[in-house]
Amino acid sequence: MKTRKIAIDGVASSGKSTIGKILAERLNYEFIDSGFLYRLATLIALEKDLKKGEYSLAVTDFNVDIKDGKIFLDGDEVPLTKLRDKNIDALVSPVSEDSTVREVITKELQRISEEKNVVMVGRDIGSVVLPDAFLKIFLTATLEERASRRFKELILQGVNTTFEEVYENLKMRDIIDSSRSVAPLTIPKDAYVIDTTNLKIDEVITLIMEFIRGKEYAL
Ligand code: DC
Repeated sequence: MKTRKIAIDGVASSGKSTIGKILAERLNYEFIDSGFLYRLATLIALEKDLKKGEYSLAVTDFNVDIKDGKIFLDGDEVPLTKLRDKNIDALVSPVSEDSTVREVITKELQRISEEKNVVMVGRDIGSVVLPDAFLKIFLTATLEERASRRFKELILQGVNTTFEEVYENLKMRDIIDSSRSVAPLTIPKDAYVIDTTNLKIDEVITLIMEFIRGKEYAL
């Protein structure tokens, strides 16, 4: 059976995961947050104490799976909270720049999407991982708006930070994500771009569901 793939890419904190998760539930598709696999490779790099230039070793025998939003390594579930740790945040950018790491993770993501219908979110899904996706969405929002959303989220989680710190951190991630030499963040030419700055979550979902209906109508 040919599976159906929906790719959602976008800038940091543009709402990819929130939107992707709700959409996957609506459609009864598997939600795949590709960032978690880069985070998992980074966790392994930390555990193996790998240095710059050695990150490819993190994905040797990278036996991963994603089921019902849970991540498994060698059959054991890896708690998502562990993957969101600050130590991982600090190292995930250089690890995800390693071309072997990207190659291995891309293959795993493609394998998973051949087994079931997916809504997959990330930075290079429509351009590299699933170039033949049924629908490609690219989410953006102003830096101000994204920083404000992220700041509120962190405060709710009890993290001690300032708006300026969050703003500068996002600005830096935008630069790193767009300027890296391997798979930089780009807008696939056949993607629908949605600027979420002034949209509520359910308005974005409604828009995407309309795009899906439009595509189905055209089949
Ligand atoms: O979406 P996130 O913050 O969990 O992603 C973590 C890191 O992984 C981020 O710095 C960029 C990288 N990443 C990537 O390079 N390609 C993807 N498809 C997804 C994430």
